[in-house]
Amino acid sequence: MFGKVSKILAVTAVSTMLAVGTAVAAPIVIKFSHVVAENTPKGQAANKFRDLVAERLGDKVVVEVFPSSQLFGDDAVLEAMLLGDVQIAAPSLSKFSRYTKSLQIFDLPFLFKDMAAAEKFQQSDAGQKLLNSMASKGLLGLGYIHNGLKQLSASKPLKVPADAKGLKFRIQASDVLAAQFQALGAVPLKKPFSEVFTLLQTKAIDGQENTWSNIYSQKFFEVQPYITESNHGLIDYLVVTSAEFWNGLPDDIRPVVKKSLDEAIAFGNTVAAQKAEGDKQRIIDSKRSEIIQLTPEERAQWVETMKPVWKEFEAEIGKELIDAAYAANN
Ligand code: SIN
Repeated sequence: MFGKVSKILAVTAVSTMLAVGTAVAAPIVIKFSHVVAENTPKGQAANKFRDLVAERLGDKVVVEVFPSSQLFGDDAVLEAMLLGDVQIAAPSLSKFSRYTKSLQIFDLPFLFKDMAAAEKFQQSDAGQKLLNSMASKGLLGLGYIHNGLKQLSASKPLKVPADAKGLKFRIQASDVLAAQFQALGAVPLKKPFSEVFTLLQTKAIDGQENTWSNIYSQKFFEVQPYITESNHGLIDYLVVTSAEFWNGLPDDIRPVVKKSLDEAIAFGNTVAAQKAEGDKQRIIDSKRSEIIQLTPEERAQWVETMKPVWKEFEAEIGKELIDAAYAANN
């Protein structure tokens, strides 16, 4: 009798231990923070990543996506990542200069003639090497997501560079972009993305530069009567994580997370191509903004005025890297 009771107790103890063991195996949580709306290339890529990881890793890994600067703005997200408060982010390539000067290459005006050239450079050896340009700071690049080429919007028509003289433009936190607007005789102001609509609406600034997708999803076109189709620069993203988090992932999990991310990036890039055209058309259809097309002669004036910025940043970025990026246009 006594033996039977102890057997029952022993079985109960083992089941309890197993149950407790199962309960403590909590899923790894990956917080993915970004600043744009969900209906953008980056927003769509982040959601796709969340869904693919859920499908493949079930309850072992959970991706939580925080869009629209809900968790962190781009000014704070990298510090938060190094503190372990967020695991993945994808700031625009213009927002890394505190960590590396090399990525400033992507801000040089008129560097890429189209998105195919940007893609070619990003996938080249030189472009892939840039993913590791912040390794000494504890940050790892996992891939690039496209958004598109930038357009100039303003409270007055901008046909030639002289039209921008004296106007205040919001820029991302980039010294190259500051130099670009100074070359126009304009006043650049570094401001967070989340503030741009209000700054434009209240006329605290006169203009800004952004992609069709961002101009549409943030409703900038509702408060900017003119958009010049300048295609003068690039907004793409670096998907970034902390080396400590990434290297700490279990060896059987990391490749599945990476594969899911690569597929999500490819999906986001397809969305980017569609949105560049679709959102431009939606803005035209809204009739809220007049779209200004440049003649080849007018465009040549913008190139001539902005391109000296390349020389200004050549020492920081490296001439070889600039040459490699420019060669991607061929
Ligand atoms: C983004 O697309 O993530 C933001 C770009 C900007 O700050 O203008």
